[in-house]
Amino acid sequence: MTNILCIGAGYVGGSTMPIVASHCPQHRFVIVDINEARIAAWQSDKLPIYEPGLDEIVQKTRGKNLFFSTDVDKHIAEADIIFVSVNTPTKMFGQGAGKAADLQYWEKTARQILENSTTSKIVVEKSTLPVRTGEAMERILNSNGKGLNFDVLSNPEFLAEGTAVRDMENPDRILIGGRETASGRKAIETLVELYATWVSRERIITTNLWSSELSKLVANAFLAQRISSINSISALCEKTEADVNEVARAIGLDNRIGKYFLRAGVGFGGSCFKKDILHLVYLCEHYGLPEVAAYWEQVETMNEYQEMRFVSKMVTSMFNTIAGKRIAVFGAAFKANTNDTRESPALEVCRALLEEHAEVIITDPQAMENARYDLGELAKRITFEPDPYAAANGAHAIAVVTEWSQFAQLDYEKIHASMVKPAFLFDGRNLLDHRKLYEVGFNVYPIGRPALTHLLSQ
Ligand code: NAD
Ligand code: UGA
Repeated sequence: MTNILCIGAGYVGGSTMPIVASHCPQHRFVIVDINEARIAAWQSDKLPIYEPGLDEIVQKTRGKNLFFSTDVDKHIAEADIIFVSVNTPTKMFGQGAGKAADLQYWEKTARQILENSTTSKIVVEKSTLPVRTGEAMERILNSNGKGLNFDVLSNPEFLAEGTAVRDMENPDRILIGGRETASGRKAIETLVELYATWVSRERIITTNLWSSELSKLVANAFLAQRISSINSISALCEKTEADVNEVARAIGLDNRIGKYFLRAGVGFGGSCFKKDILHLVYLCEHYGLPEVAAYWEQVETMNEYQEMRFVSKMVTSMFNTIAGKRIAVFGAAFKANTNDTRESPALEVCRALLEEHAEVIITDPQAMENARYDLGELAKRITFEPDPYAAANGAHAIAVVTEWSQFAQLDYEKIHASMVKPAFLFDGRNLLDHRKLYEVGFNVYPIGRPALTHLLSQ
């Protein structure tokens, strides 16, 4: 039996480790966190994150070979392998503020591992980190004077929220980076063995430490770049009566381009794309590559443009003012099937609508609590309404900003009847049947497709 510890019971630690535990009943897994409320929630019937399929897996493993705890020191002492999945947000102070990674949680964890270790260990970077962080980690850990050996590996996580269970059960690849020393190679092999319990060996790739760290940032940057690319084209489509869905399909059928991640929308959100692109930009600046930095920074700039373009279109279409108008915002989560609202375009849209003095009502099947928390003081100026019919009742407009399938199943005839006329619908995710909505009487504004409107001058 191997004692496996995961430090950080957030989205990554909390959704990956139960799956590993379910495949490896011979090992003992503990997930620790300094956040007591979070650990209590992991031990309860209402898990702190909503992730389809995760409840069953936690129920199956919890108390058998999976345990949650706040006693970080004790479990570090007992562990053979430690996964570190603490948060690595953007630094908001001092050098690199607004771009660089804030590595304080990371470094604290490294020192805590050092302090509490009495045996040698494998330490695995699961968090997304700037390239060469492993070096700092090694220096801290191996300055121990206790005669202990720490092998640092990089094993970035590629799961997407909403499909975490599927992604972890059947990953495109598992990436493991380590040192090319005898001890490093042995550590890599130990981790390969663990994953090989359920992942075929061709899908487990090994690299040097720096390639692995950098590949994670680059994967996210490429994914975000595709979204910004198609969103930039959506703006051109709106000027030319081309249809962005048709363009995406036409280009995506070229195998070299591929069909995924070409859904135009209100912009990408989530805790990672923006932060990881900015970390990449900062690294490029740090290494004296301003042109490369500017190239990647444009991906984020385009995303902000897309979010604001959506709100501008709402204002101009609704006769250049939305002050005092009731707007029902359908969605708060940054994507469907999650309760995560971090960097959600939905909340950016709400903030911009409030600036225009609109009356904002939000509805979301899972993310209302997090939305309220993330909006802070502004939440007091917003109505949170779980029932989408009630949210739209008496509204001048609906803005669809999260692609929950529930929103596509609503009775829009009934909704239209309850709204102020002319009724507007802005579909920031191209989720709904626009022709049908138009026939019901809505003035419909999709992304990157011609508007369908009953208004004479539009
Ligand atoms: P999160 O904020 O949800 O969770 C991090 C957890 O670490 C928090 O609960 C926090 O309390 C805990 N923590 C911080 N310092 C600690 C310490 N010293 N001891 C114990 N616990 C500590 O973050 P997340 O979304 O799980 O992301 C974690 C990392 O994984 C980030 O680097 C992120 O970029 C990366 N990542 C995230 C996703 C995702 O879908 N969310 C996917 C891939 C990679
Ligand atoms: C993303 C990556 O997909 C994961 O591989 C990675 O592990 C993770 O970031 C991370 O490092 O945190 P995630 O942010 O959970 O996963 O979700 P995505 O499916 O990538 O969606 C991100 C955002 O892009 C969402 O707001 C989504 O609505 C938007 N999106 C996605 C589009 O606007 N169009 C698309 O075609 C795809």
